[in-house]
Amino acid sequence: MKVINYFTLCTLVLLVSCTKNMVPLSYPIQKSKTADSAMVVSAHPLASKVGVDIMKKGGNAIDASIAVQFSLAVCYPVAGNIGGGGFLVYRGANGETSALDYREKAPAAAHSDMYLDKDGKALTDLSQFGHLASGVPGTVDGMWEAFNKYSKLKDWKALIQPSIDAALYGVVLTEREARGLNSNTPDFDKVNKGKTVFTSKVWKAGDILKQPDLAKTLIAIRDKGRDGFYKGKVADQIVAEMKSGNGIITHEDLANYNSVWRKPLITSYRGHDIITMPPPSSGGVVLAQLLQAIEPYNIKDIGFHSPFHVHLFAEAERRSYADRSKHMGDADFYPVPVEKLISPEYVYNRMASFNYEKATQSDQIEAGKVKESDQTTHFNIVDQEGNAVSMTTTLNGGYGSNLVIKNAGFLMNNEMDDFSIKPGVPNLYGLIGAEANKIEPGKRMLSSMTPTIVLKDKKPYIVIGTPGGSTIITTVFQGIVNIIDFDMDAAAAVAAPRFHHQWKPDMIYIEKGTISQETRDALLKMGHKLMDRDKIGRLEAIVINKNGKKVGGADPRGDDDANGY
Ligand code: DON
Repeated sequence: MKVINYFTLCTLVLLVSCTKNMVPLSYPIQKSKTADSAMVVSAHPLASKVGVDIMKKGGNAIDASIAVQFSLAVCYPVAGNIGGGGFLVYRGANGETSALDYREKAPAAAHSDMYLDKDGKALTDLSQFGHLASGVPGTVDGMWEAFNKYSKLKDWKALIQPSIDAALYGVVLTEREARGLNSNTPDFDKVNKGKTVFTSKVWKAGDILKQPDLAKTLIAIRDKGRDGFYKGKVADQIVAEMKSGNGIITHEDLANYNSVWRKPLITSYRGHDIITMPPPSSGGVVLAQLLQAIEPYNIKDIGFHSPFHVHLFAEAERRSYADRSKHMGDADFYPVPVEKLISPEYVYNRMASFNYEKATQSDQIEAGKVKESDQTTHFNIVDQEGNAVSMTTTLNGGYGSNLVIKNAGFLMNNEMDDFSIKPGVPNLYGLIGAEANKIEPGKRMLSSMTPTIVLKDKKPYIVIGTPGGSTIITTVFQGIVNIIDFDMDAAAAVAAPRFHHQWKPDMIYIEKGTISQETRDALLKMGHKLMDRDKIGRLEAIVINKNGKKVGGADPRGDDDANGY
């Protein structure tokens, strides 16, 4: 009886809301914006606007973050999610810092050889596509946690309603989004039985994407909070979907999911405090290593994209990513030697083999000895009181596992591929791992997501982050250096061309058409291997000026948008 009442109520709510406003939502994109009070920079103009509206209503940066996370699940399905997870780094105006880990967890039935065939061959198709690729989603629990700890508005429903409206009335697709959905159709078709909301037609710019099933799921979350997702109808839908394929997520896995508040990793760079994400992200540790490795050098004067700039950064990256592959994983399961890895002596010793004129070969680099495609999304928010949130959230690959939960209308993650499914076998981003990141029930897969807040004189100065798989850390690294050392403003810092090295493959990846031929020739002479590639990351930054103004920079590589007031 209760169930019937609940769904009758949902239908009524749908009808009432539909008659209230039938206009699909579409907003212009701003790449750079300066504001006195508050700022949001996200991957989608609708999400940025939702965040700003929440703060205008008196919500703080956390309230706005929750609303933006849910909005992105509707207007940015390639990465925005409720079927995935993420990390939130917070710094309150009162000086409090915290880090919320709402990363997915391996289901209880997961085991270390679940993606190996009988001959021990790795089956990456299974860790990347369909039912078996998903970890237990963390997003809804994470947002519920953040709300209960920090909300100022104290109105959960008001934070979810904008996403319900967007799902019901529809979102106008940009050219990029239409192209993304169309080109992904074969993968959606491979994983789902029959058509999904994303494959219901061939999309073009200006089309309206309506997601009524997703609206119902969001209504359950709006009305029942965390339990609207992890228990009841939506949980039943997830488990039924899992059973209809080769999935292993159970009701118990869902009910038992918990996000965790962690102590952020705090390091320093040229007198600034860097507040970033600890394990299960490798992002904070690697970022701390990279900043320390370059700190002895006068970066400002060596010249942007000079041979020495690229050489030094690539050599530091080579060493840190070697450490990542061996020493990093979920610290709740494996003793990640964080303190050791980020200690100045350790980083200094790692750089001792750095030759000013010659590339080191990755095969000669082992992890240090210690004793012990736009498919993620990032946003930054600073509110009128000076609270700051840096948040990266993901389904892992574009559209995650491609599996749309039947009748519930949302995409599931393929985060299990971020585990090392077999030592030495590269994941989606070419990263390799070992024991520290092997699959175990209830464990979180190692991430590269690096949401970061930088303080200057103990006040928020830069809020920054990006998607990009393995390139996330080096992109955030370059963004911070662009602002602190190369004196770029927020828009220039996020737009500047980027490069990336990750130890293996032994290669400097360079955004196509960037870095001068002269620099490239010098790097080749030093023994580096270079490879052009498509865009690296979608970096978002807010810089808070001396006069307190918030300057948002949204990456021109996507439809990213800066909005504030
Ligand atoms: O957690 C991680 O490191 C990855 N799942 C992030 C994936 C990602 O950034 C994809 N975006 N391009």
